[in-house]
Amino acid sequence: MNSTADEASEFEFPIIMHREGKSGIFVPKISLTSTAPPMNPAFYNPLGEYKRDVLVHVVSSYAASFTKGVRFADILAGVGAGGIRVGNESRNVGCVFLNDLNRNAMQLASLSINQNGIGEKFIRSGEEANFFLSNHSSMEERFDIIDIDPFGSPAPYLDSALRAIKIGGILGATSTDGQILCGLYPNVSLRKYGGYSLNTDYCQEIAIRLMLGSLAFAASRHSLGISPTFAHTEKHYTRIYAMVTGNSADLEGKLGFISQCNACPSRSVGPVMIGVCPDCGSNCKAAGPLWIGELFDLQFLTKAAELRPERKLEQMFVSAKDEVGLPATFYVTDSISSRIGCSSVPILYVVDSLKGLGYKSSRTILDRKGFRTDACTDDIIAVFRSYTD
Ligand SMILES: C[S@@+](CC[C@H](N)C(=O)[O-])C[C@H]1O[C@@H](n2cnc3c(N)ncnc32)[C@H](O)[C@@H]1O
Ligand SMILES: [Zn+2]
Repeated sequence: MNSTADEASEFEFPIIMHREGKSGIFVPKISLTSTAPPMNPAFYNPLGEYKRDVLVHVVSSYAASFTKGVRFADILAGVGAGGIRVGNESRNVGCVFLNDLNRNAMQLASLSINQNGIGEKFIRSGEEANFFLSNHSSMEERFDIIDIDPFGSPAPYLDSALRAIKIGGILGATSTDGQILCGLYPNVSLRKYGGYSLNTDYCQEIAIRLMLGSLAFAASRHSLGISPTFAHTEKHYTRIYAMVTGNSADLEGKLGFISQCNACPSRSVGPVMIGVCPDCGSNCKAAGPLWIGELFDLQFLTKAAELRPERKLEQMFVSAKDEVGLPATFYVTDSISSRIGCSSVPILYVVDSLKGLGYKSSRTILDRKGFRTDACTDDIIAVFRSYTD
């Protein structure tokens, strides 16, 4: 038996080597068969593979411009799937810190590191995540990239992460608080993220904006700013990536409210809430305070697409480039069709027709049937009617 096989035989629960991306990850056998992967003996969710594919590529794209390998910290690492894949697959990564309170998880991580032959890059620890970050807050200990991948909300870790990140570094954060961020519990959203959520067609975008808002308010407390790099959302989670800047004045004009009319598709984005719809005079409801600036960085997306990741990722980055510079919030085709009582209209027809009328328009990576535009509500509706006429 080789040493990895020796170590593997020492576990008191069944484990298996699972392939993800280009890496082999040792995981509890039960995490591959159970519908909800358990926290014990250690956490691994195979459904998170795409999220980690994106992470690996975001790190490569960010690190590409560095002359020296970057320092990456996976502070809630589970069995280490994210961090190990970054260390093994991302370009130009010098050092990966894996941290998790769960001892089984860190033992499995050790096995996977040996399996992939990448031991020289890794430092493991089993500390409480905020304690770990505080211990890395001196200038020479800080990280270029920190990933926060918790159960639920990343909010408890934001302050410590901001102390442990370099200026110009990237913070990645996941939320699995879908119901809170998508408007089912707006008061809980206010308590956890500092802004009210709202149940709308574009609630995935509101979720991203609430997370960015929460990070921006935290950054501002440390006299720092943020500049979002990328964000995406899947059924079970929302992910943001943002660069931390050295000046809280960068946040000027980037925090505000989204007001949505109760009766028509009209919405307003700005520094204050709007109580009455400018289009139809009905009452509006509002989300926020939240991030109202750009969600994606064009330079980053260009680099990410240039590095030619596998097709699905490349399409996502290329498609996201079209959204840069377009208004906050998207419309959903089926929702407009049902509101005006017409049959379903193909998304490409809508986008092309709006462009034909001289408006800006694009699809959005946040919803298969979502589109952005700077057109007024009347002209959007006219495009939908023109399809059935
Ligand atoms: C959602 S899982 C992480 C999943 C992992 N990032 C992945 O991609 O597979 C959250 C992890 O955080 C760990 N954890 C929870 N609270 C913690 C804390 N305060 N400090 C350190 N680890 C913690 C848990 O043991 C669990 O493994
Ligand atoms: Zn209205």
